[in-house]
Amino acid sequence: MSLRDLYQDMILDHGKTPRNRGVLDAPTHTQVGHNPLCGDQLTLYVATHDDHVTDVKFEGKGCAISLASASLLTEAIKGKTLAEIERLFQAFHTFLTQNQEPTIDIGKLAVFAGVAEFPMRVKCATLAWHTLHAALENASQPVTTE
Ligand code: FES
Repeated sequence: MSLRDLYQDMILDHGKTPRNRGVLDAPTHTQVGHNPLCGDQLTLYVATHDDHVTDVKFEGKGCAISLASASLLTEAIKGKTLAEIERLFQAFHTFLTQNQEPTIDIGKLAVFAGVAEFPMRVKCATLAWHTLHAALENASQPVTTE
């Protein structure tokens, strides 16, 4: 199996069976993200303690890529510090929007490598991350990809 197929499989798996889907009991941050081009929307619930993300869940509807991205985001950030998450967000964003090799290890997020060639799909893959960014900054407005 090629790396590309492996990546594809993982996106399909997380898109079909997203991890950490649901509502968090006591989130410290909640944020809605919206892609107006397709109408997809998700809500992210994040619990932080002492500068760490202790738990995260999401709900909403979206395409396979946006659900897979939200699912992988929840796995990637749990237990990390806010500074680590910010670095991960920046590296992932640059990776997708500028098609550049990430400067830090982005782990499973590398599965979105093929998405960088398709600007519309980049929005799908970054929706959850923009939402997270706004959640941690306590934005009061919904986030959109436009
Ligand atoms: Fe809506 Fe992907 S098509 S987020």
